[in-house]
This record gives sequence, structure tokens and C-alpha cells, in this order.
Amino acid sequence: MKKLIKISLTATSVLIFLLVSINLASAQKTEAVGKPIPDGITKITNKACAACHAEPASGMAISALNLSKWEAYSAKKQASKAEAICNKVSNDKMPPKKFKEKHPEAVLTKEEIKTLCDWSATLNPPKKK
Ligand code: HEC
Repeated sequence: MKKLIKISLTATSVLIFLLVSINLASAQKTEAVGKPIPDGITKITNKACAACHAEPASGMAISALNLSKWEAYSAKKQASKAEAICNKVSNDKMPPKKFKEKHPEAVLTKEEIKTLCDWSATLNPPKKK
């Protein structure tokens, strides 16, 4: 009888160990997946970027940056794309000049550029030295 108790205790602890490991493994997996774009950011990209960088747009722009597929990007890819977004808008490279001429409402304010870059910084924490 004692032996039976021992066996079932061992089996239970093995089972618990397995469940915990599976849970940990899936928790790590979700960590690698990126986060959705915050609403404040979508508001800016909708007016200034979505025409070329969100579906149903097609061509070079959407393959370089597809905001409609953002949530499928890995955390790493999101971080590097967000950094590229901050760089492009800070250097006045995006939205393209011609687009801004036709759509003056797409010209970003300094504040909007800062909002994009602050968001990028949250995805790109400074590297530890
Ligand atoms: C009129 C269309 C158009 C609009 C509007 C536009 N883009 Fe682009 N974008 C492009 C094209 C075309 C490319 C690819 C060629 C290039 O890099 O210049 C590109 C490339 C990029 C890239 C480079 C992606 C990479 O990793 O190589 C980033 C980042 C980007 N755009 C950000 C933005 C942001 C942010 C906005 C809005 C503030 C924006 N774009 C608005 C057309 C557009």
C-alpha cells in the first residue's frame, strides 16, 4: 500500500513538472511575438503612412513595411521597423515629398514625430554595456 502511495506521488510530481515546463515554454514563445501598435501610433500612421504601408496597398512600400501585418512581425522585427520609422520621419524621408505635396494633412508635426520615436524607443531599450 505504501508503495502505491509512493508511486502515485512520484507520478503526480512528474506530471506537475511537465505542466510547468510546457507553460514556461509557451510563455517564452509569446514573448518573442511582437505587440500590437498602440492607438496613438495608428492614428498617425493612418493619416500619413497607411496609403502605402497598409493593405490594400501594393508594391515596394508595402513589402518594406506592412502595417496590416504588424502583429505577425516578431518582436525583433517590430523593434527594427519601429526604429526605421523613427529614422525616416525624423530625417523627413517619410512620408515621401510628393505625397506630402498632394496630401498636406499627411505632413507630420514635431509632436507626432516625437510620439513615433518615443514609441520606437519603448521597443528598442538601450543596450546594456
Ligand atoms: C506615397 C507612398 C508612401 C507613403 C505615404 C509612406 N511611405 Fe514609407 N515607403 C514608401 C516606399 C515606396 C518605400 C520603399 C522604398 C524606400 O525605402 O524608399 C518605403 C519605405 C519605408 C520604410 C523602410 C522600411 C525598411 O525597413 O526598409 C519605412 C520605415 C517607411 N517607409 C516608413 C514610413 C512611414 C512611417 C510613413 C508615414 C509617416 C510612410 N513610410 C509613408 C512609400 C511610402
